[in-house]
Amino acid sequence: MNPVPSPGRAAVITGLGGWVPPRVVTNDDLAQVLDTSDEWIRSRTGIRSRHVVDPGTATAALAVEAGGLALKSAGGVDVDSVIVATTTPERLCPATAPLVASRLGLTGVAAHDVSAVCTGFLYGLADAVGQIVAGIAKRVLLIGAEAFTTIIDPADRHTAVIFGDGAGAVVLRAGEAGEHGAIGPIVLGSDGGLADLITIPAGGSQQRSTGRPAPPEEHFFRMRGREVYRHAVERVTDAARSALNRAGWAPADVGRFIPHQANARICDTVADDLGIAPERRASNIERVGNTAAASIPLLMADEAAAGSLAAGDRVLLAAFGGGATWGAATLTWPLLPAPALQ
Ligand code: COA
Repeated sequence: MNPVPSPGRAAVITGLGGWVPPRVVTNDDLAQVLDTSDEWIRSRTGIRSRHVVDPGTATAALAVEAGGLALKSAGGVDVDSVIVATTTPERLCPATAPLVASRLGLTGVAAHDVSAVCTGFLYGLADAVGQIVAGIAKRVLLIGAEAFTTIIDPADRHTAVIFGDGAGAVVLRAGEAGEHGAIGPIVLGSDGGLADLITIPAGGSQQRSTGRPAPPEEHFFRMRGREVYRHAVERVTDAARSALNRAGWAPADVGRFIPHQANARICDTVADDLGIAPERRASNIERVGNTAAASIPLLMADEAAAGSLAAGDRVLLAAFGGGATWGAATLTWPLLPAPALQ
């Protein structure tokens, strides 16, 4: 699927917010309960710490915090549609977005979830652009939110060191392609033959159809890290090149590369392959780890809070996730009515 907004009409970012739960878990904290070390985690992933929800806190609470901040940053506007991209919905059924919308005082609006694991925000962005450009919605609140640590096996050192919790959100409105904050070409892809690389084996219809309860460990997230690494670098680089081509931008035109924070080495390899200079690469993985669908909007909110971008700067987004799914998008940095909050 490659939705390109028709010339003239565009979805434009008009609000931005990010939120992480207060509890911080450092690599040293993990090394006390797992056979790992700060040195191993930092050198393989670039992560030093991550934020983790307390027991009893699930995804909607994070989504409401980030969504509320994004709405405030947009100047307190109303939206017609709420999209939540998440790997950790509150329940298998119903979706989390209606609950989030209602807690934000938005009962009655369209609301649905997007399930594309770490590429979820970009798939959600395509949905939001489609709704706006087709005239279905005037304003959309798009949230990436994850209580990812709730699906991690605390005894699995391959995954427990990588993921963290958080949420990021943008408000998009109908506008023109030349405006600051306009979303440009979006490139998306998938390969279901790689479904087993990143998976929670149990809990869905496949396992339930057997009529036998699954062993408890099959309800945890599993990842074949080395294979993910290889596919991620290849697919994200291709998708990013393709989005740049469609936008008519050279890599040197990119003011900021804001990739999904999968792993610092993946992000750097992709940026090296694309020819994006180190000072143009945004990163917050050291502080928040991999927050899956929340990663890109959380990093956008961090960039806004740091004031590192001027309105109109050219931005490239890119991600890889379970499915396998991948994608990339271009945009120009928005002029926000109120400072982005976090
Ligand atoms: N601490 C210490 N040692 C660990 C460890 C940890 N947390 N996790 C794995 N190891 C060990 C392994 O058991 C293995 O030991 P062995 O050689 O004695 O068997 C060794 O380290 C190498 O393991 P491997 O899995 O091959 O490491 P790696 O270099 O591939 O790094 C990842 C592991 C997960 C960091 C890396 O594969 C990766 O970043 N993959 C992409 C993950 C990702 O980004 N996922 C999100 C996609 S959206």
